Amino acid sequence: MTDPSPRPRLKPARSMHGHMWLMGFVGVAAGLVLLIYVPGLTVISKSILFFAGFHLVGAVVLVASLAMGPARGLGPLLRRWTGAEARAKKDARFDFGWGPGWMNGLAIAALISAAAAVAVEVAAPRLWLLGFGLVALATSFLAGNVIMRGFRRPDHMVLPLVDLALSEADVVLDAGCGAGRTSIALARVVKGVRIVGVDRFDAGYIDGGGRALLARNLRLAGLSDRVSAETADLTALPFPDGAFDGAVSAHVYDHLGAAKGQGLRELIRVLKPGGRFLMIVWTPGWSMFAVANVLSFFLTSKQRWRGLAEGAGFRRLDEGVFNNAWFILLEKPGGAAT
Ligand SMILES: C[S@@+](CC[C@H](N)C(=O)[O-])C[C@H]1O[C@@H](n2cnc3c(N)ncnc32)[C@H](O)[C@@H]1O
Repeated sequence: MTDPSPRPRLKPARSMHGHMWLMGFVGVAAGLVLLIYVPGLTVISKSILFFAGFHLVGAVVLVASLAMGPARGLGPLLRRWTGAEARAKKDARFDFGWGPGWMNGLAIAALISAAAAVAVEVAAPRLWLLGFGLVALATSFLAGNVIMRGFRRPDHMVLPLVDLALSEADVVLDAGCGAGRTSIALARVVKGVRIVGVDRFDAGYIDGGGRALLARNLRLAGLSDRVSAETADLTALPFPDGAFDGAVSAHVYDHLGAAKGQGLRELIRVLKPGGRFLMIVWTPGWSMFAVANVLSFFLTSKQRWRGLAEGAGFRRLDEGVFNNAWFILLEKPGGAAT
C-alpha cells in the first residue's frame, strides 16, 4: 500500500493531570450552573464544587511536581506507580485514532453521581436508598471508565489470537482493520503471517477514517511489508472464494446492523476450508452495562451471534471473554482435520 504520511509525528504522552483538569473544570461548571439556576439544590451543587475543586488542586500539585524536572519530585514516582510511564511510551508509538471522549464522559458521570450521593447523604439521610443507588451508579460509571481504558489498549485482545493462524505461511484477513490495532497485534503473535486489512475507512469515530493512521502505525511497527490494505465493504468482499487461510475481526461485525448475516456469509466464502475466523464483539452483560449503560441492552446477544455464525455455515470451536470483550473462534468446515 502507498504511505501518505511523510514522517511519523509522535503525539506527546498524555499524562493523568489532563483528566483531572477536565473533571475539575466540568465539575466547576456543573456546580455553578446548579448553584445559580437551581437554588433548591444548594447541597448538591456545593458537593459537586467540592469534588471539582479537589480535582483541580490535584491537577495543580501534579503539574507542579512534573515541572520540578524529569528526575525529581512526585512526577516520576507517580508515573512509575501508575504505570503511566510505560503506557505513555506505548501510546506515543501508535495512534489508533480514538479520542478519550467516551472514557472521560464516564469519569465525569461517576464524579457527578458520587457528588450527588454525598449530597443526598448530607441533606436527607432518610433517603439513604437513593444515596445507595447513586453510589452504585458512580461505581458502575467508574468501572466503565476503567474497562474503556482496557479496550483502548493496543494489545487488548492478544491472547485469543494465538489459536487463529495455523501456520506462519498463512494469509489472514483483518476484517474492519481500522488503524491497524488487530493487524499489528496478530503480526506480533504469529511471526511471518501475511495480513490483508479491509475497511471502508470512512468511520467518523476514527481520525481521518483510519487509512493514513494505518500506514503510519504499520511503518512504526516495521510491518508495512507484511500487512497490506484494501478499501472495501465487508458485505461484498473483492476477493475470490477461499482466498484466505484465516480471518480476524475486532469490534466490527456489531457495526453491520441488519447486514450481519450477509457479512458473515461473505467472510466464510473468502476463507479456505478449514480456515479459522476469530470474531471479537461487545455483547450485553455487566461490563458493557458499565460502559454503555442502557445502550448496552441493544447489543446483539451471544446466542444470536452463535446462530448467525452457524447460519452462515461456520462450526464453533471456542468462545470466551477476554479483557471484557467476547470472542468466538469459528471454522469453515471441510478442512483436512474436519
Ligand atoms: C470500532 S472500529 C475497530 C477497528 C479495529 N478492528 C480495531 O479493533 O482497532 C470498527 C471498524 O469497522 C469498520 N467498518 C464498519 N462497517 C464496515 C463495513 N460494512 N465494511 C468495512 N468496514 C466497516 C469501520 O470503518 C471501523 O474502521
